[in-house]
Amino acid sequence: MQLLRLASALLLLLPLLLLPHSAFASVLAIDYGTDWIKASVMSPGVPFDVLLNKDSKRKIQATVGWKNTDRLFGSDAFNLAARFPSDSFSSVKYLLAAPFDSDISSYYSTISTAEVVKTSRNTVALKQSDGNEWSAEELVAMQFARWPGEKVSDVIIAVPPYYSQFQRDAVVDAVEVAGLRTLALINDGTAVAVNYAMTRNFPTPEYHVIFDAGASSIRATVVSFSNSNSTSGTQITVAGVGYDLTTGGTELDRRLREILIDAFNTKHNKNIREDKRGMAKLWKEAGRVKAILSANTEATATVESLAWDIDFKAKITRTEFENVCQDLKGHYAKPIEDALLNAGLTLDNITSVILTGGSTRTPMIQAAVKASVGEDKIALNVNADEAAVLGAALHGASLSRQFKTKDIKVTDINPFDIQTSYLAAASTSRTITTLVFPAGSKAGTKKTMTFKRKDDFVINFDYKNPVAPGFPTRFLEVGIEGVAEAIANLTELGATDPVVKATLTLSESGFISVSSAVAFGEIKDDSIAAPLRRTAETPENAAPRESESSTNSTPEKEEEKKKPAVKDNTITLNTSVVFPTIPPMTVDHKKNSRSRLRAIDLDEAAVARKEEARNSFEGYMYRLRDLLDENNRDTPFTQCSQDSERKAIADKLEESFTWLHDKGSLKGPFVHRYQEIEAFPQALNNSQMWNWSTRLFLTEARQNLTAEAAADLPSKWTKEELDSLEKTLKEHESWLAEWVEKQKAVKSNEDPVIETTEMKARAKVLETALQKLVKRKVPKVVKKKTTTTSAVETETAASAEEATPVVSDAAEEPIIPTPTPVTPEGEQVPLPTHDEL
Ligand SMILES: *[C@@H]1O[C@H](CO)[C@@H](O)[C@H](O)[C@H]1NC(C)=O
Ligand SMILES: *[C@@H]1O[C@H](CO)[C@@H](O)[C@H](O)[C@H]1NC(C)=O
Ligand SMILES: *[C@@H]1O[C@H](CO)[C@@H](O)[C@H](O)[C@H]1NC(C)=O
Ligand SMILES: *[C@@H]1O[C@H](CO)[C@@H](O)[C@H](O)[C@H]1NC(C)=O
Ligand SMILES: *[C@@H]1O[C@H](CO)[C@@H](O)[C@H](O)[C@H]1NC(C)=O
Ligand SMILES: *[C@@H]1O[C@H](CO)[C@@H](O)[C@H](O)[C@H]1NC(C)=O
Ligand SMILES: *[C@@H]1O[C@H](CO)[C@@H](O)[C@H](O)[C@H]1NC(C)=O
Repeated sequence: MQLLRLASALLLLLPLLLLPHSAFASVLAIDYGTDWIKASVMSPGVPFDVLLNKDSKRKIQATVGWKNTDRLFGSDAFNLAARFPSDSFSSVKYLLAAPFDSDISSYYSTISTAEVVKTSRNTVALKQSDGNEWSAEELVAMQFARWPGEKVSDVIIAVPPYYSQFQRDAVVDAVEVAGLRTLALINDGTAVAVNYAMTRNFPTPEYHVIFDAGASSIRATVVSFSNSNSTSGTQITVAGVGYDLTTGGTELDRRLREILIDAFNTKHNKNIREDKRGMAKLWKEAGRVKAILSANTEATATVESLAWDIDFKAKITRTEFENVCQDLKGHYAKPIEDALLNAGLTLDNITSVILTGGSTRTPMIQAAVKASVGEDKIALNVNADEAAVLGAALHGASLSRQFKTKDIKVTDINPFDIQTSYLAAASTSRTITTLVFPAGSKAGTKKTMTFKRKDDFVINFDYKNPVAPGFPTRFLEVGIEGVAEAIANLTELGATDPVVKATLTLSESGFISVSSAVAFGEIKDDSIAAPLRRTAETPENAAPRESESSTNSTPEKEEEKKKPAVKDNTITLNTSVVFPTIPPMTVDHKKNSRSRLRAIDLDEAAVARKEEARNSFEGYMYRLRDLLDENNRDTPFTQCSQDSERKAIADKLEESFTWLHDKGSLKGPFVHRYQEIEAFPQALNNSQMWNWSTRLFLTEARQNLTAEAAADLPSKWTKEELDSLEKTLKEHESWLAEWVEKQKAVKSNEDPVIETTEMKARAKVLETALQKLVKRKVPKVVKKKTTTTSAVETETAASAEEATPVVSDAAEEPIIPTPTPVTPEGEQVPLPTHDEL
């Protein structure tokens, strides 16, 4: 009975969790770089521009950090590294979806002083000095969530064109953890092209190369622009991309720091590498020296008290710097050559090479590009820092279709060879491999594959070559299910040689999925009415039949679709998705992460409210003091009040000032200790209460499960789910037991070893796990695409051939394979007390 009440209390909370979707939402565009983050927002009726941060900066350092318990962003967080080298997290972009044992992850350790740890998904997390671990997605999400003032939910993110499905999934996960929704991803070179086209016309078609030298890579995108056809606006078509993942601003910084390290170590006979603070200081100094060397032939590095109380000073020449980068010389312009090669073009076809990205300011990179393409081809006509974010915003606005924007159509490509493989037959181990989306395939296309199979089978998706060293090639496995029954039914209906058809989608945002699967067969009796051109394909030649998005639906196909014969011989099949290597975050992962971020946000909001209340209270008192001032005799206040009344107010005011200065503005670590001591019993009570209610729930649920199993009745939960909840509970209990013991040993004048915010966040994880089961109403349905098995598949067979028009594709296709959204948490919910249970 008690449990029922808990259940209904929890159910009542659920409607609060749903966010209303405003019809006039703004679109937020984010260019998330390795070093800098830029954002722009498109709101109806408002001129759009790059968003400024609180210091009116147009670009913000992509860093998040902690100074004790205060979370900092941007340059505040970046500068923190010199004092708290384990609590300042920069260059996180490198780590998105990177396997823990990949080259990227070890490279990261050479550029950052942060501690790298493994997540449960085998990817990388960073560890704060207080033990808190944050996955790359969580750290990125915190930075995405930093535009709370703007009422946005839809976001478009600019990503490098070489981002694989692994990294694209990670970006979309970060957006969700931030409580936002991904409208689309756009490749950054393409976004610059959109920005370029915004103010230009192309009466004759032109090719340009967008050359982007960033922090973590250098990339080139060959783009054609045309609006010779006035009815269809401007058309931007990506023709080829090239990239180099080993060269960029970060690698140059690293090499420059090596010079500084050697200089220090030699001069002072010490090893600065052993000193994290010193290494962090030198990292910052290397960046500064590099910038000076862009305009000067020499620079002086100076760091006061670098380590061991030694002030460091060294002169660096540009030649010296360029010498240690000799081996990179061939890398700078190579992406342009590769992109042209992929596009099947030469420099003669190119009108200009548009430079963008911070590292194009480095003289040796500029020189290499000039030498490669000729000085007259170089164009500096877009804003190197902002073109991508502004282009992304415009593209996002046109996708959301709430804005009237210049009509710019974009066709992008996928730069990787993507192949499928599957067993030739159920009984063999022979595999058939098909290059289904060769490098250069247009984004926003569908392909149909035909399989002559009688049983369930699995289609594997691989990159033909690893997308980066240490990355797996396999990224997706899609099971096609219910084949035997569907084929049997078709055969029974009189179909000859029924087959399985799967529609493979490469979305506008660069995601691969199986968007539908059907069993299909021609029924003899209808042979006159169903003139479907179909050649009997054996699995060996199950060549993907391409249906380009630009061909759209032809009238002939429309007719076919209406004929009942086609309807009758198609049965929709279920698909199930497995991520065999680097899985995206599960819905539970995302919910937990969202809760952790919410807990911080709520605490920060409480601190901010207190500060604001204090300020307005103080302001009010000063105004009151002015009114009481003996010199202000003529005010209505003085005229209408009696001396005794003013005296009473003045006394109260004095009292309030004293109180405010004693209590209201206390600063320093002892305040934090005091607040923690105050908050601890409540937090402990809360933690134990969730421990207790979960235990209670588990006991009862297990009894019921056993009883239901005995009576052969359906259960709301599986044993595995209860086991998993129990595991979460045990983790919570043992953490609590361990740390509460430790905390008991801490004196009042010492810093607490556990923070109540962490206790709350952990209790929240348990609460979420419990809620998930408690709110369950019906027996669990396995997570699969549910489908109808009747004959209402008017769309399925036909849509495979039709392909949706380019523009609607990104908006309508789910861009992630696990589309269940995380519901952002509502306000902090009141907890049921023990009495209520
Ligand atoms: C112009 O665009 C329209 C619609 O996309 C198309 O039907 C027509 O063939 C195009 N004309 C030229 C000259 O490309
Ligand atoms: C590229 O330039 C070559 C040589 O000038 C020319 O033959 C070719 O048609 C051009 N290709 C395109 C697509 O304009
Ligand atoms: C598809 O999945 C649903 C739910 O799991 C199931 O009810 C249905 O029978 C399945 N259909 C086929 C054709 O396997
Ligand atoms: C196959 O036919 C049986 C009997 O008509 C029907 O119950 C079942 O749903 C059909 N299955 C599929 C996958 O169409
Ligand atoms: C903990 O909760 C119980 C039951 O609601 C209450 O009696 C007790 O006072 C609480 N303790 C603290 C320290 O809040
Ligand atoms: C959790 O609750 C159980 C009883 O339900 C209790 O025995 C256990 O000590 C509690 N653990 C902690 C750490 O409070
Ligand atoms: C267990 O079964 C009883 C009786 O059907 C029901 O009232 C109760 O809600 C169930 N409890 C759980 C946790 O399923």
